[in-house]
Amino acid sequence: MNTIRDLELKGKRVLVRVDFNVPMDDKKNITDDIRIRRALPTIQHILEEDGKLILCSHMGRPKGQRNEEFSLAPVAAHLAKILDREVTLAPDCIGAESEAMVAAMQAGDVVMLENLRFYNEETDNDPNFAAKIARMADVYINDAFAVSHRAHASVVGIPANVAEKAAGNLLQTEMDFFHKAMDVPVRPLVALVGGAKVSSKLGALENMLDKVDSMIIGGAMANTFLKSQGVDMGASKTEDDLLDTAREFVGKAEAKGVKIYLPVDFVAADRFAADAVCKNVTFRDVPENWMALDIGPASTIYFQEALTDARTIVWNGPMGAFEMDAFARGTMAMCQSVASSHALSITGGGDSNAAVKKSGESANISYMSTGGGAFLTLMEGKTLPGVEALR
Ligand code: 3PG
Repeated sequence: MNTIRDLELKGKRVLVRVDFNVPMDDKKNITDDIRIRRALPTIQHILEEDGKLILCSHMGRPKGQRNEEFSLAPVAAHLAKILDREVTLAPDCIGAESEAMVAAMQAGDVVMLENLRFYNEETDNDPNFAAKIARMADVYINDAFAVSHRAHASVVGIPANVAEKAAGNLLQTEMDFFHKAMDVPVRPLVALVGGAKVSSKLGALENMLDKVDSMIIGGAMANTFLKSQGVDMGASKTEDDLLDTAREFVGKAEAKGVKIYLPVDFVAADRFAADAVCKNVTFRDVPENWMALDIGPASTIYFQEALTDARTIVWNGPMGAFEMDAFARGTMAMCQSVASSHALSITGGGDSNAAVKKSGESANISYMSTGGGAFLTLMEGKTLPGVEALR
């Protein structure tokens, strides 16, 4: 796979697929611009090399309809501020007006095309749509790791139509870190997996079983594993259709010599609410009609011990309902443990990254991926269509 440094960019129209699908508040202020900042090395490189920079991205899921609610205008303004140079937002991602704007570009100019998902053709990977965008470019760069698991027009269709293509700095960095952690890890490699559902992570869990030395399972998904071992989880969230699968998984882990760490105690609550009545209970004592909403102090110590010798840690998913302070302690403790570990630590997924941010430990994690679904796809052992399209 080529990287952007392999290409001559001077005077060329360089189309960069970025993932600027960033969160905004009601007033359209960007509340987390990490995805924009992580694309800066690629952007700056193109500008330094005197390329004509054309950015394209999706924003949200406008379902193929033009909808100002999903406009990239606030993103263009934000980027202009960061770069301290003009970023012109084209009125559309295809069409005569946008093409004319691109045709008039000088080296060093920046044009951002409007939200690709104003067209269903983007998510349908329509070849005509891809060709219309591709003809505005001499070079195609994918720097959108977080959407590279989607076989959309801008991810796989456009590169099929552009002769010169490469990975941007962010895509390359994400792939390099993941490779280091999962393909050639310094061992022991410990996976820390949490979140609500076993079903959404089953593929990742199965694949990780062949790679990791041990696996810590927290979050609501741990409830299903414990229930599969005959533990009464009260009114805790479980996926009862997956009890056999969870039981088999633990058996497979045992056969492979992968130690699985499950919670030994919980913060249980009488309902799913920030002001619920809570108490610490062992895993055998979740009261009837109560639910486990965080790992307890003994589990925290147990999990921290599991991390002590780790030389590589891959983390996806929180340990509890950390968005409510009453149930954040376990996840925050794991943030601190991962951050203070000497291991190469990689986190991915919106919730884990939000938790790390909340803990104030972002600077002490080796690498926080910008991907959610893309990160999980790699954890499942699958290739990313966006990466394949560059080969
Ligand atoms: C994300 O936020 O995970 C990416 O931007 C992909 O968005 P999508 O799930 O709407 O495709």
